[in-house]
Amino acid sequence: MKTHELFDIQDQVVAITGAASGIGLAYAEVMAVNGAKVNLIDVDEKALLEAVLWLQEKGANVHGELADVTESSTLQKAFNSIMERHGKLDIVFANAGISGGPGFLKGNGERNPAGEVENLSLDVWEKVFATNVTSILRTLQIVAPHMKRQGHGRVIVTSSISASMPESLVSSIYAISKGTVGHMVRQYAFELAKYNILVNAIAPGPVVTNIGGGRLKFEESRKPFEESAPLGKIARTSDLQGAALFLASAASSMVTGTQIVIDGGRTLGKAN
Ligand SMILES: NC(=O)c1ccc[n+]([C@@H]2O[C@H](COP(=O)([O-])OP(=O)(O)OC[C@H]3O[C@@H](n4cnc5c(N)ncnc54)[C@H](O)[C@@H]3O)[C@@H](O)[C@H]2O)c1
Repeated sequence: MKTHELFDIQDQVVAITGAASGIGLAYAEVMAVNGAKVNLIDVDEKALLEAVLWLQEKGANVHGELADVTESSTLQKAFNSIMERHGKLDIVFANAGISGGPGFLKGNGERNPAGEVENLSLDVWEKVFATNVTSILRTLQIVAPHMKRQGHGRVIVTSSISASMPESLVSSIYAISKGTVGHMVRQYAFELAKYNILVNAIAPGPVVTNIGGGRLKFEESRKPFEESAPLGKIARTSDLQGAALFLASAASSMVTGTQIVIDGGRTLGKAN
C-alpha cells in the first residue's frame, strides 16, 4: 500500500479531550492538516477558543466543545453535540490529564519531602484519579455504544512511561494513575475487540507542554530528564504526531491493546 492509503484519515471524525494545549493540540493539528474533522474538548475556555482559531487559520475543519472530563454531564453534552454535527465518531483521543505535583527526589538528587508518601494529599490523589483515570472510563462509556453501532472505532489514550516504571522526579500519584491507565488500555482493548473498536495508547516520556505549570519549558527543570534519556533530549509535542497518525489510520488496523513508547530511550536506562 502507498503512504496516502496507509495513513489516510480524510473525513474521519475525531474528538480529542484536553485538546487546547500541549499533546492534545498536537494530535488535533496532525489530524486536522491531514483532512480529518476535528472536535476539540477542553475545560479551559480561552485556550480552547485560541486553539480552534489557530487550527481554522490552517484551513482545518475544527470545532470546540467546552467540557470537564471529570463531569459526566458536560462530557456527555460535548459528545452529543459532536454526534449531532457529524453523525458518526471514528476516533477519540482520551488525552486530558494533570500532574500530581513533585516526585520524592529533586532534580539535584536530594529527597523532596513534598513528594514523599507520608506527605501526599488525598485531595490531590482524588483529583488526579478523577482527571487521569475515571475520565477515561467515562469517555469509553459515552463513546463505546456509538462505536458498537457503527461497527468500528478507535480510542487512543495518552498514558505515560510512568505506566510501566516507578518515578522519582514525578509524583507517585501521577505514576500510579498512569499505571492504571495502561491496564485500562489492555482490558478495554480485550473487551471491545469483538466490536472492531481498537484501544491503544501513546506513552510519552517527558514532553515540553503546559503540564505541571509548564516546568519543562525551563532548561533547569529539563536537565535531569535530558541527562537520563539515551538520546540526550526530551520530546516536543510534534514528536508524538507520527504515532497519533499511525494509531488513527489503516496502518494500525491489527494493533490493539498496545502502548507506543516515545521517550528518547529513557525507559532503557541511562546510557552515558
Ligand atoms: N507533558 C508530559 O511530559 C507528559 C508525559 C506523559 C504523558 N502526558 C500526558 O499527556 C496528556 C496531555 O498533557 P499535556 O502534557 O499536553 O498537558 P497540558 O497541560 O499542556 O494540556 C492538558 C490540557 O488538558 C486540559 N484539561 C485538564 N483537565 C481537564 C479536565 N478536567 N477536563 C477537560 N480538559 C482538561 C487542560 O485545560 C489542557 O488544555 C495528559 O494525560 C498527561 O498526563 C504528558
